[in-house]
Amino acid sequence: MKRPIGRLVGTARYTPSKVLTNAELERMVETSDDWIRERSGISERRIASDEETIAHMGNVACRQVLEEAGLGPPDVDALIVATATPDRLLPSQACDLQAILEAKNAAAFDVTAACSGFLYGLSVAEGMLASDSARTILVVGAERLSRVTDYTDRATCILFGDGVGVALVQPAENGDRGILATYLKSDGTLGDLLYRSGGGSVQPPGDELTRDRGFYIKMAGREVFKAAVLSMADACDVALQRAGMSGEDVDLLIPHQANVRIIEATAKHAGIPMSKVVVNVDRYGNTSAASIPIALDECVRSGQVSEGSIVLFVAFGGGFTWASAVVRW
Ligand code: ACO
Repeated sequence: MKRPIGRLVGTARYTPSKVLTNAELERMVETSDDWIRERSGISERRIASDEETIAHMGNVACRQVLEEAGLGPPDVDALIVATATPDRLLPSQACDLQAILEAKNAAAFDVTAACSGFLYGLSVAEGMLASDSARTILVVGAERLSRVTDYTDRATCILFGDGVGVALVQPAENGDRGILATYLKSDGTLGDLLYRSGGGSVQPPGDELTRDRGFYIKMAGREVFKAAVLSMADACDVALQRAGMSGEDVDLLIPHQANVRIIEATAKHAGIPMSKVVVNVDRYGNTSAASIPIALDECVRSGQVSEGSIVLFVAFGGGFTWASAVVRW
């Protein structure tokens, strides 16, 4: 087994305090608490206020993880933000966060891989450590999906929530703790199963965008579900194979939190009992790139992840993208 190059030395999260329950959604669209919980496993999700921009939420989480590691913003060499819902399209979300965080020595850039974005960012961070171009890296998964969710579309508005999670990544320093394997994959031919047509340079602001509700996420749920199950299975297989492990070696599976049925199918495929699988989709819904770092931070703080734990991360998202990582904590 290769010696790890990078290690996750700390985590933090920011989840807005405002809760949107299934009961409230019942009053907004034709749906029911039973339907939502049975089909997705979601009971409630968090919704950011006007002040809770991604830069704001990211700033709070990043300052916390740095402080807990005995570091400050000037120590950060690189700030990588994975998001599909930046505060604005230009400059990058990472630059807006870099400014408010006062990380004045950091390179800053976004990674766009939808729900797989955090794991993509982690892999990029590992590459930066390998090339010695950075030694202290913040990988942030951040979303404000409520701003691009169509609350008249019952097929999507029940799913999404807001939040931010961050991991502090540093060199593994010749130990055996750290990132043991990563895997990134994509299939752009499936892009039209989950997309937002507006906000880019093809569909400018105007009547067509308004008529098509092109600013909002559109999704073919059933097709996404099927593709997700297959890609999550592939992601488990390849990361475990690259780490020289099987499902039996895994202490904890932290999957992207999209739908509890997708999570159960993934765990079954990997041969990992549900007692070793992290599920918080019931409380946060799908927070896309933020879901894995939020879940990880909960596990670190509760002691579910501790020194030496073998953790398998696996995600899929719009693009399509999928990704995985095996870490010895
Ligand atoms: N309430 C009640 N009925 C509903 C609702 C709702 N909120 N939404 C859809 N329905 C209806 C449909 O209209 C359909 O009715 P019909 O049979 O009369 O046509 C019926 O329920 C079944 O609809 P399906 O879409 O087949 O339901 P499914 O079991 O697939 O569950 C769900 C839908 C939860 C969206 C599921 O498909 C899913 O989770 N898909 C994956 C979504 C996902 O993971 N996205 C992640 C990527 S996010 C990112 O990258 C940002």
